Amino acid sequence: MKAIVYTKYGSPDVLEFKEVEKPTLKDNEVLIKIHAASVNAYDWHSLTADIFLIRLMGGGLLKPKNTRLGADIAGRVEAVGGSVKQFQPDDEVFGEISHGGFAEYACAPESKLALKPANLSFEEAAAVPMAALTALQGLRDKGQIHPGQKVLINGASGGVGTFAVQIAKSFGAEVTAVCSPRNMDQARSIGADQVIDYTREDFTKSGRQYDLILAANGYHPLSAYKRALTPKGIYVMAGGSKAQIFQAMLMGSWMSETGGKKMGGVSAKMDQKDLGLIKELIEAGKVKPIIDRRYPLSEAAEALRYLGEGHARGKVVITVEQNN
Ligand SMILES: NC(=O)c1ccc[n+]([C@@H]2O[C@H](COP(=O)([O-])OP(=O)(O)OC[C@H]3O[C@@H](n4cnc5c(N)ncnc54)[C@H](OP(=O)(O)O)[C@@H]3O)[C@@H](O)[C@H]2O)c1
Repeated sequence: MKAIVYTKYGSPDVLEFKEVEKPTLKDNEVLIKIHAASVNAYDWHSLTADIFLIRLMGGGLLKPKNTRLGADIAGRVEAVGGSVKQFQPDDEVFGEISHGGFAEYACAPESKLALKPANLSFEEAAAVPMAALTALQGLRDKGQIHPGQKVLINGASGGVGTFAVQIAKSFGAEVTAVCSPRNMDQARSIGADQVIDYTREDFTKSGRQYDLILAANGYHPLSAYKRALTPKGIYVMAGGSKAQIFQAMLMGSWMSETGGKKMGGVSAKMDQKDLGLIKELIEAGKVKPIIDRRYPLSEAAEALRYLGEGHARGKVVITVEQNN
């Protein structure tokens, strides 16, 4: 089968589109014929090792241990292992499988998959898992979101941000989206009640306060985020500039709880129940993936290059041609 492979850390130039062995199925796994995958910052960090901790935390010190990229996938089940209970051949599935999704086939434990939302194409479904799970777990688990709360999403126009706006609305929050001028209409179209142009206004200096702030992109010092929180407000860092990520890493998973305000980060995990909940939100019409660009599998390097520029509007998808 054809797949994207890399044997050394580096820019997208190190990626090869080549013929590799089709994966062999283990007892607890599902073999998926992949129709689409999507690109995440996770793939970028795995490729470039720009965050040194990736090397220390099992990625491989000098070169990548796992030579394959692609976490988010959607496709059709081709075969199932003997102990697989939830899926059968021909099922349409989507999921987050860590590595190996930029290929014609992949194997994954059934716990990494769910049935594809009925109202989405494979391309749309592949755009969902990692970004939507990050938004859901950041808002609900770390952010303790409640109906009627004032919620601000910083970096509302990327993969995580576009899901965060919609998921916060589905919880009944009043949502403020922070993005650049070219993305303001998009933010309104997915339900944001207020939109702030970060090139004209620094929301941390406006005097307005929010019950929950999810930082998906950009950068503000922690003291500035804290100022923009209500007395019992919660700040959740999902991503953003390296400085923002390092601050959260250095200070631990829950950084502080001072004067009633909580400051912390989310480290999202694939969770089948949560993916099922996201599927329900999608099928109920409350959440939809926003796709910026599509690239064929052979041009995965281009897709990563585009994501790496940091200005994707929603998700970047890789399409896998299925000849048979
Ligand atoms: N914690 C976790 O478990 C977890 C999981 C997934 C992702 N992440 C992290 O979350 C972050 C976001 O991921 P993503 O998939 O949403 O990335 P993305 O899609 O690449 O984000 C791109 C978007 O960010 C916007 N942006 C860039 N600079 C900004 C700024 N200064 N202020 C506000 N918006 C800005 C861009 O809009 P403009 O060009 O218009 O500014 C663009 O729409 C990444 O750092 C990623 O590593 C964390």
